[in-house]
Amino acid sequence: MRQTSLVVVANRLPVDDTVAPDGACEWRRSPGGLVSALHPILHHTPATWVGWAGGTGPAPSLPEVDGVRLHTVALSADDVRDHYEGFANATLWPLYHDAVEQPVYHRRWWESYQRVNQRFAEATAEIAEPGAVVWVQDYHLQLVPGMLRELRPDLLIGFFLHVPFPPPELFMQLPRRAELLLGMLGADLVGFQRAQAAHNFAQLCAKVLNVPATDRRIAVEDRVVRIGAFPVSIDMAEMEQLARRPDVVARAQQFRADLGEPQHMILSVDRLDYIKGIEHRLKAYSELLADGHVKMSDTVMVQVAVPSRERVGQYRVLRDRVEREVGRINGEFGRVGEPAIHYLNQPFGRAELAALYRAADVMVVTPLRDGMNLVAKEYVAARVDNTGALVLSEFAGAAAELTQAYLVNPHDLDGLKLTLMHAKEAAPGDVSARMGAMREHLRGHDIQAWARSYLSALDHTGSLAARLRAD
Ligand code: ADP
Ligand code: G6P
Repeated sequence: MRQTSLVVVANRLPVDDTVAPDGACEWRRSPGGLVSALHPILHHTPATWVGWAGGTGPAPSLPEVDGVRLHTVALSADDVRDHYEGFANATLWPLYHDAVEQPVYHRRWWESYQRVNQRFAEATAEIAEPGAVVWVQDYHLQLVPGMLRELRPDLLIGFFLHVPFPPPELFMQLPRRAELLLGMLGADLVGFQRAQAAHNFAQLCAKVLNVPATDRRIAVEDRVVRIGAFPVSIDMAEMEQLARRPDVVARAQQFRADLGEPQHMILSVDRLDYIKGIEHRLKAYSELLADGHVKMSDTVMVQVAVPSRERVGQYRVLRDRVEREVGRINGEFGRVGEPAIHYLNQPFGRAELAALYRAADVMVVTPLRDGMNLVAKEYVAARVDNTGALVLSEFAGAAAELTQAYLVNPHDLDGLKLTLMHAKEAAPGDVSARMGAMREHLRGHDIQAWARSYLSALDHTGSLAARLRAD
């Protein structure tokens, strides 16, 4: 039997074209949770990944990465400005994350969004084998399923949204809301992180498009589109293996030694994004230092914040504000050679991240809204000895699964301070019971389980899911 072939379509390829300090072109793993999630499942599975390589100008031709063929879609400087930085990251991203920053609407951005989506659909239509399964990812490409169905009705099309899908009160603001819904309905299966998102989507389809819709099925013309929740996860085995490696254990000890062997090491790891709640966290920490509940003599905080989408105004402003606040806190509470907050802007390799996770007694993940948040799951995976306290925002998708975390509303500063203290001072028995339960959950719900459950729901023949299982 011929195996069904798989094409993943995402705005970003798994590698990103970056410029080295000496000006040479370098390929690096792309940032963010989407690539972290998809990379391990495609590893050595014959698949093609259609995406953008991060630069402007003609599409570079790229080699395979771990057996995955890369098919590059070119974006011009105008496309990057209007599609990626504009409609995707200044309209949809803030709107889908509770409008914690004001979404911006420009008609020119919408035109570019349509054009770029059409280009992705055409590129995919050209390379997909007859009857292939095409899996379209995330908010940058919501029109692709509909456009692709027009071009290639023979394909089996899936769509997965990695970010939250907002309630009708917010989504109804969008000037081109009907087109976006119809674009997604071009898929055979639309997947979300949470059941609430599928419910929001069904309600909106009924309201805006006037079509019969339940939280599982939506009827459009002569087709039925299935919808559902498929919470994304991490490669638990990979992170556990890394965390057990002797060089990683040694590196974790080195981190703690470099930090002055503190009694408590608190860690946060985020893309520098306003959804991540970094400013709220800094404020809470600074108040704990000011009122003496946290003492620099026994506690250190490390904040890793890797710069992201730096040409979008809201991100530039955020970076300035965060850096000013870190400077203020260090100026006020730090001592010579001992900053109150160790603030790192750099990308880290997987082993370095695993070592940081292993080193930290308390991990603070407090987004104001997040589709899932894989950092929270990675921390749990790295705590192979069941130690470590996870403080987790109720507004991260991960909170629906990691219910034994120290859950918190990040908008409630007093609550955030209390929860941080509670996690920091928790009895070892409580910490390990919680961590053990979360680890048990992740063992049964890792990234391979996610991919199998989505792909077997999409592809009734089971051919793709079986292949992932065999891998
Ligand atoms: P988002 O998708 O919004 O960026 P997630 O927490 O879901 O948030 O995923 C972030 C991913 O990026 C994780 O896999 C994490 O390990 C990785 N990551 C975060 N910060 C860094 C960093 N400084 N260096 C390398 N990888 C990072
Ligand atoms: C989130 C989004 C991804 C995106 C990633 C990094 O995880 O869901 O689609 O790729 O952030 O953002 P960037 O803008 O650098 O692609």
